Amino acid sequence: MDILPLLCIVSAAFTGLTKGAGVLPDVLNAAVGETVMFTTTLTPPEKPFLSVGWTFGEKNIITFSGLNVTAPEYEGRITLFMSTASLELRNVALHDSGEYSVIIFPLGEEFKTGNTRLNVYEPVSSVMATASSTDLVEFNSSVHLSCSSSGSSLSFLWLNGSSEVTASDRVQLTDGGTILTILDVTRYDQGPFRCHVSNPVSDGTSDPITFSISYGPENVILTISPSREYHAEGSNIDLMCSADSKPAAQFKWLLNGVLLSDTGPQFKLMNIQMSHSGNYSCQAFNSKTLRYESSPPAIISVLKRLSGASVTSSTNVPIEGNSVNLTCDAAGYVFTRKWMKDGSDLILSDNIILYDKNRVLSFKSLTKKDSGEYSCTVSNPLSSDEAKYSMEVNYGPENVQITGPSEIHLTETFTLTCSAESRPPATYTWMLNGIKIHNSAVFTKDNIQHSDSGIYTCEAMNDVTGRKLSADHELSVTGAPLFRGQV
Ligand SMILES: *[C@@H]1O[C@H](CO)[C@@H](O)[C@H](O)[C@H]1NC(C)=O
Ligand SMILES: *[C@@H]1O[C@H](CO)[C@@H](O)[C@H](O)[C@H]1NC(C)=O
Ligand SMILES: *[C@@H]1O[C@H](CO)[C@@H](O)[C@H](O)[C@H]1NC(C)=O
Ligand SMILES: *[C@@H]1O[C@H](CO)[C@@H](O)[C@H](O)[C@H]1NC(C)=O
Ligand SMILES: *[C@@H]1O[C@H](CO)[C@@H](O)[C@H](O)[C@H]1NC(C)=O
Repeated sequence: MDILPLLCIVSAAFTGLTKGAGVLPDVLNAAVGETVMFTTTLTPPEKPFLSVGWTFGEKNIITFSGLNVTAPEYEGRITLFMSTASLELRNVALHDSGEYSVIIFPLGEEFKTGNTRLNVYEPVSSVMATASSTDLVEFNSSVHLSCSSSGSSLSFLWLNGSSEVTASDRVQLTDGGTILTILDVTRYDQGPFRCHVSNPVSDGTSDPITFSISYGPENVILTISPSREYHAEGSNIDLMCSADSKPAAQFKWLLNGVLLSDTGPQFKLMNIQMSHSGNYSCQAFNSKTLRYESSPPAIISVLKRLSGASVTSSTNVPIEGNSVNLTCDAAGYVFTRKWMKDGSDLILSDNIILYDKNRVLSFKSLTKKDSGEYSCTVSNPLSSDEAKYSMEVNYGPENVQITGPSEIHLTETFTLTCSAESRPPATYTWMLNGIKIHNSAVFTKDNIQHSDSGIYTCEAMNDVTGRKLSADHELSVTGAPLFRGQV
């Protein structure tokens, strides 16, 4: 029997099948120019096959039934492996894609069939990504990336670093994935972005595209060193400004909102004066984004160290009963004043009052007890200073007393002593019956006569208080008068 017609009938019976089946795999993929092996699942039989036929679509490729009959267009491109009926197809082209079938008649067995699909692809090559621009401004720029490649049946995807880019509000993938559009780029979109192209037989990746994305300035921070609430006059202060910015920000400085001539991230204040006090801030500018941002203001307070503390009195001569003000002053800005007396806290009363934030210590009416050493301590956060003042309250005279006999015998000697409480000490004047007789505290007389009797008056006088006080003392002289020549 001629087997060829039989082969044709049988092959016509199953070429209608589309799905891979039987002794062949479902699908085979190959790149243009490659060699494809259609390998059957058969194990080599002991006796050779009676006949084998391979078809591509409805065309015969090769039939064997004792002889090989190869279609002319496959001459030299194929090899049939008789042991397993596998077929090698060399130098495949795109038009070799399609359905392949085989029918095999083993000796004394049921015939076997198989079919499969061969997909021939142009391999991926020349993958290239281009960007509409690589110099971008955060929030301001949108960018298109497009991908081109040679090859057939291509799929495209984009890589951002090592992860695949997925579409979102601001990320669009269009034209089958060949165009990636990023709207309103952020600093985190710098990439590198790569286009990855693939088909079942090959793939390729473009060179990376990296964006330079300008952003900021933001997070502008002014640092003052040393950092303290008050700075001593004459000291130096460093101000530093920083900002998140690409490219690096340019800095300007403001004092109380007014632009200074200084520029740069560092600003030095040397030998600062009170007039340097104020609100400082720095302004950062990005020449690419054209944006400005200022730091929150930082307050610099300059203080003088306190010096030259003094206590002055409203009078050089404090007098009992008078009012006196002690005034405490110093050079520099005084925050607090504290008064002490004789090393202890001053006790205020109705008579002792502080005015003008403790600057003035006021005595309404001085008493002797107000004498003592007063100190005033002035301070501010940087320093303190102390001044002392000794106050001696002048008083008197008071309590004038005369000691001495009130009766005395003729010709005897007597002494009268006058005393008084007084500061400064009193000066004394003695009078007898209104007539001035002596000028010091102690009055002595010998050889007393009757004419020495009478009222002795001691007058105590305080030159400073201008006050006088006197006391009287009566003296009587006893005994008969002695006559001349009797002695
Ligand atoms: C048929 O061709 C194959 C190679 O394609 C060869 O191996 C085989 O020997 C040939 N058979 C005959 C009978 O010529
Ligand atoms: C790229 O990756 C960075 C880091 O993961 C991410 O923040 C950014 O949003 C990504 N950009 C795009 C366009 O996918
Ligand atoms: C400095 O700023 C503070 C608050 O920010 C404000 O109260 C003060 O008045 C400002 N001082 C000057 C001198 O501008
Ligand atoms: C950012 O965009 C605005 C308008 O959208 C434009 O006026 C501005 O000039 C842009 N800035 C830069 C740096 O391109
Ligand atoms: C003392 O100071 C107070 C308050 O300033 C003032 O009223 C009084 O007149 C002053 N007294 C003298 C003696 O200077």
